[in-house]
Amino acid sequence: MPSEKQATVVISGTGLWTPEHIITNEELVASYNAWTDKYNMEHAAAIQAGKLEPMQKSSVEFIVKASGIKQRYAYIKEGILDIERMRPAIPERPEDSLSDQAEIALHAAREAMKAANKNAADIDAVIVSCAYTQRAYPAIAIEVQNELGIKGFGFDMLVACSAATFALHRGYEMIAAGTARCVLLINPELTSPQVDYCNRDSHFIFGDVATAAIVERSDTCTALHSYDILSTKAMTQFSSNVRSNFGYLSRASDADPFSADKLFHQNGRKVYKEVCPMAEQHLRCHLESQGLTVPEIKRFWLHQANINMNALISNRLFGKEAGMDLAPIVLDRYANTASAGSIIAFHLYNQDLSSGDIGVICSFGAGYSIGSLIVRKR
Ligand code: COA
Repeated sequence: MPSEKQATVVISGTGLWTPEHIITNEELVASYNAWTDKYNMEHAAAIQAGKLEPMQKSSVEFIVKASGIKQRYAYIKEGILDIERMRPAIPERPEDSLSDQAEIALHAAREAMKAANKNAADIDAVIVSCAYTQRAYPAIAIEVQNELGIKGFGFDMLVACSAATFALHRGYEMIAAGTARCVLLINPELTSPQVDYCNRDSHFIFGDVATAAIVERSDTCTALHSYDILSTKAMTQFSSNVRSNFGYLSRASDADPFSADKLFHQNGRKVYKEVCPMAEQHLRCHLESQGLTVPEIKRFWLHQANINMNALISNRLFGKEAGMDLAPIVLDRYANTASAGSIIAFHLYNQDLSSGDIGVICSFGAGYSIGSLIVRKR
């Protein structure tokens, strides 16, 4: 296929679904603090006897300073702020109804398909890739494929914070290998059910969102804004510093399937110290491997977990704080959306680049896992 030699692999469209419900820091802290009052009152005797530590209050100032997060979106807000519940109330749907995650995936998928001028017949594969899927099988991706009327195949994959970049890598490889002409990648990050809203160390961290992207050959691309994928790079290194033990073995181990360790938990200080240098090193190596240097990069669409992590990585890479133009921040509005953060940043802040401008999409986090793509505006 002579034309295949010239064809590159491109990102030709992205989509973003933002839930309608916002939870501000003020609302979250008010609810958490009311819950601690209730807890401390209910356990007053044990606390007074020195058998139990009282729960400490959370604060808006701490959250903004420690994370940069000012608010987060919630798929279902009901229940989260209710001090008798402290978790979202998401009713179970019958098996013949669309699942929650497929529903939010579809919103983002349809937007990405529209941006890329693609219909179901153009797409050969669907990958749903995120931090959690609401069931083991059938794959959410196959449900989405069915809803959209896409032929071919679909599968789910989980890589926590790097699920979106790793899925883009798989899409890139499928197009490059010729096993698919066009791939739809979706990140329905429904994180709120896994947040421990009774833990002040982490109750503020996550938000819900869904992102999607279309990857295809350049010779089929008709999109207004598209990016050649010049290179991909991934690395993983095992760490339990960000972990959830939720899983199907709980039934067999007789463990409480909803205890604190079955929800998101982390050693935040260690994550900060270990992941930032890894991400910086990864980015430098990736750029060097392509004969590129940091000043040649017009924009970094970085993972969006914590403002201080991004500031440290920026300082190490650029020798200064990166402004919104060089490394846009969305975590103030969206909070940490697991793998979707760098894709939200890319979606919202890519259209102003000029043809030939080079940018980097990069995720980093649980696993540990780091994934990056060097892209060039067409
Ligand atoms: N409100 C008020 N005080 C709080 C608080 C809250 N919500 N949560 C924790 N604190 C207290 C702690 O108990 C601690 O008190 P102590 O000094 O008396 O022990 C103090 O504030 C500092 O806590 P610490 O956990 O050391 O804060 P930090 O500055 O490291 O910030 C993170 C916490 C999680 C924001 C930070 O470690 C971080 O950004 N980590 C990167 C990891 C990350 O973002 N991961 C996301 C998933 S990949």
